This record gives sequence, C-alpha cells and structure tokens, in this order.
Amino acid sequence: MPIENNDTEVTITSPTDANTQVKVLKYGATVYSWKVEGEEQLWLSKGAKLDGSRPVRGGIPLVFPVFGKSQDPSVSKMPQHGFARRSTWEFLGQTKENPPTVQFGLGPENADQEVYKQWGEGNTDFTLVLTIQLLKDSLKMNIEVSNPGKKEFKFNWLFHSYLTVDDIEDSLINNLPGEYCYDQLIKEHYTEREPAVNFSGELDRVYINVPTEKNLQVVDMGRAFHTVQRNNLPDVVIWNPWTDKAKSMSDFSPKNGFLKMVCVEPGHVHDFVSLKPGESWTAGQTIHKGAM
Ligand code: BG6
Repeated sequence: MPIENNDTEVTITSPTDANTQVKVLKYGATVYSWKVEGEEQLWLSKGAKLDGSRPVRGGIPLVFPVFGKSQDPSVSKMPQHGFARRSTWEFLGQTKENPPTVQFGLGPENADQEVYKQWGEGNTDFTLVLTIQLLKDSLKMNIEVSNPGKKEFKFNWLFHSYLTVDDIEDSLINNLPGEYCYDQLIKEHYTEREPAVNFSGELDRVYINVPTEKNLQVVDMGRAFHTVQRNNLPDVVIWNPWTDKAKSMSDFSPKNGFLKMVCVEPGHVHDFVSLKPGESWTAGQTIHKGAM
C-alpha cells in the first residue's frame, strides 16, 4: 500500500522501494520523517511532541500566516510562526498514484481557533492546500493559499525544514554570497561576504529576495548532502540554535542535537503576500538527497 492513513498520520511509501517513505502528521500537516532508501533526511528532536500538544520540533513545520513575531496590526497578537503548524489539517486524499501524491487542507473550520481568532479581525476566510509528492530521491511540497472571502488579507509563508547533517561544524550552505540578509541575532541588515555560510555558533539569518534560480546546497565535508529548490519563495532563513538556545528549548533533545541539523527554510517572509478576494497564490520547495 503506497498510502496508509490512520487517525493521526499519513504514510507514503515509494511503489519501487519500501524503504523510501515520508510520514506526515495531520497535526500541522508536519512531515516528520522522510527516508530515502532507509536513510533519514530530516532531523527530529527526540523531545518532539507528536501528540498535538505543541508544534513539532523537527521535520518540516509549516509557518503561516506570520513568520516570527510581527508588529503588523493584522498579525501582531499572534504567537511566533502563526497557527498552521498547530492546527490539525484535513487529509484530502491521494491525487496521483505514481509518483505518489497526497493533499492536506486547512481552513477557518479546522484551524486552531485560539490563534486563528488573533488574525485580522478574527474571521479571515482562507483556504490552504498542501500537496506532497514522494519521488525517488526527492520530496516535493507545494502550497496553494486562496482567498474565498470578501476582504483582502496578507500573510507570510515558510517551510521550516530541519535537514540532517553529519556534523554542523563541517557543513556549509552555498549560493548565498552577495545576497542581502537580515541577521536576527544582531538585528542588522548586510550583504553576505563569506564565500559560504558556515557554522561556529548560533546563526539566525533571513536572506532576502534570493533569485529562485539559485538552488541551495548543504555541503558536508565537501559532499552535497541536500539540495533545496524553490518556486516563488524569494527568502531563505538559515537557522542553527547552537548550545545555549538548544538548552533553552525544552523540546530540543539531545541538547547537542544542534550538531546534527541545520534549518534551511524557503519562504516569503520579508514582506507579506496580499491576496484580494478570489485570488490565490502558489509556491513550493523540493528537497533532493545529495546533488541534483
Ligand atoms: C526560525 C527563526 O525560523 O525558527 C528563529 O528564524 C526561531 O528565530 C526558530 O528561533 C524556531 O522557532 P520556534 O518557534 O519553533 O522555537
């Protein structure tokens, strides 16, 4: 069975390889495991809650309608990263047999009500459809945001992907030199001058308006570990919490787990996307194991 659906999660298995599989929790429509020929590609905290009590620490949480905290009046009351990652999405079913493809949906009726009510005037009409496709050695995700209501709304979107690395101190992310970024730790904008992004401490940067033709590669000891392709997602957040921040997160385990992960997060977060009634917007990411 390429698709298994139970109360809490959906598992997609490759029709050609039983060890190539993706697991999606209905809570947050969070992909929390993606294996290629048995090898896990995503980092998941051993302290992650998969019971819907809090957003998942690891995998690919979905950030909507706000990235971080924002002063914008329509989202300023919301907790960090909005409600999509803390809502239980509806499984819409399988839309393609090969490559196996499934869809999940979220609207006002199944959104986490407490946080959803803090968006705009509390009754913003919206529809999200997430499409997940499992390919031989890549995972393709697409999001469609629609406005079926009567008033315009604005939002951020981000795929908060936690990727595995062998050792963060031997890893780098390429293709970002020359790009403008906002460093969330020192609260300053600057142009990236380093030949590659490398890691020797906490790092939390938003690279702004990076041409989507530029694929991002996570290189570990000179070997391409993952390649991230983006569609209509101009911004890229790179995050590693390092020692102190990892210690401060109760669901981050083991505490030295930051050595094994890096977040490469394609999004539309520097500016908001505005959607008028009747309009829709689509974007996506494809993560490849290794080089493309
Ligand atoms: C990243 C942000 O996307 O998410 C960081 O850039 C943040 O600032 C991190 O710390 C984790 O956020 P959260 O809400 O899952 O702890």
